[in-house]
Amino acid sequence: MTEPLHPPFRTIYWDGGLDGTLVLLDQRRLPAEVRFLPCRTVEDVMEAIRTLAVRGAPAIGIAAAFGICLGLSQVNPVSVPQALTTVEDSAARLAASRPTAVNLFWALEQMRKAALQFAQQNSSSNVQDLRRHLLNQAQTILQQDIDTCRAIGQNGQSLIPEGAGILTHCNAGALAAAGIGTALAILYTARHFSRQFRVYVDETRPLLQGARLTAWELKQFGIQPTLICDNMAASLMKAGKIHAVLVGADRIAANGDTANKIGTLGLSILASHFQIPFYVAAPTSTFDLSIPSGQFIPIEHRSPDEVFSFSKQQIAPRDIAGYNPAFDVTEAERICAIVTEKGVLHPPLPKAIEELRKKG
Ligand code: MRU
Repeated sequence: MTEPLHPPFRTIYWDGGLDGTLVLLDQRRLPAEVRFLPCRTVEDVMEAIRTLAVRGAPAIGIAAAFGICLGLSQVNPVSVPQALTTVEDSAARLAASRPTAVNLFWALEQMRKAALQFAQQNSSSNVQDLRRHLLNQAQTILQQDIDTCRAIGQNGQSLIPEGAGILTHCNAGALAAAGIGTALAILYTARHFSRQFRVYVDETRPLLQGARLTAWELKQFGIQPTLICDNMAASLMKAGKIHAVLVGADRIAANGDTANKIGTLGLSILASHFQIPFYVAAPTSTFDLSIPSGQFIPIEHRSPDEVFSFSKQQIAPRDIAGYNPAFDVTEAERICAIVTEKGVLHPPLPKAIEELRKKG
């Protein structure tokens, strides 16, 4: 490839120096409006994560990393020990914003470790030095994501055959990351190599990340998507229109079980029924090797109000029960490959993941 692929828009960036602002492309407003949301406090970042102004596993990790820097400019600690307490306090609060995507906890851990190590190794340093170090660390996490997304795209692009129909669910693209995304990075890279294919986008009820975000994003990248309702996938597969299913991930257990947006499990079962390959794309920061299988992945449950309404319009009586898990877990047995920035993992996934861990 001659020149690297860039997203045609910015999802997340830091504006300014030590007392700068985290700027997020406000995903609650897409596709109607492209509006940026400035975050100046830890509470702003928590609210943005909780309400899905910023969403997608890598993006919420990056937002949380900058949230640590915002916590320090809010409190303006006078000593390094006080700054370390502020970091711990901000990390604990940011960690409570959403439970499933492990990238959030991974990024917070990187920031906590960076703060502690810097304080231990630079005993004569002052608070400003520590703050500069942590802002650099957050920028490094963002830059690494850009590189990781490109590598995922490169590693996975050959999975997309010429003329194929590809089904994707939710949004695992540039809106979910700082770079070109994970699952969608594979499509962008394949298109960069002039491969022709059709992308079917699940609308992704209840919050419509497919319809609102993936369809918008693909168009920004010059790919015309075909939007379908979630309940149409089986019929398309039966008609022979889908040749691969490609999704992102929020947390991958040591045995390869994968949590992703609610509805992914159903697609994996359909794919195995129709003998269609089912692929996951994710950075290695999405692996949680502390848990042996998917049954230990905490699943976020959101307000049933999201099910009772469609694009903010009420569609059901309010005095009934509602159930709204935001994620489900696809068993490793149904995943044909996991594309990471370090290479493509093939079944048996527990063994492939163990080898990846040993390589470090
Ligand atoms: O609730 P969301 O919109 O944050 O869910 C996002 C997903 O499920 C994505 O597929 C996943 O985070 C991968 S993003 C590269």
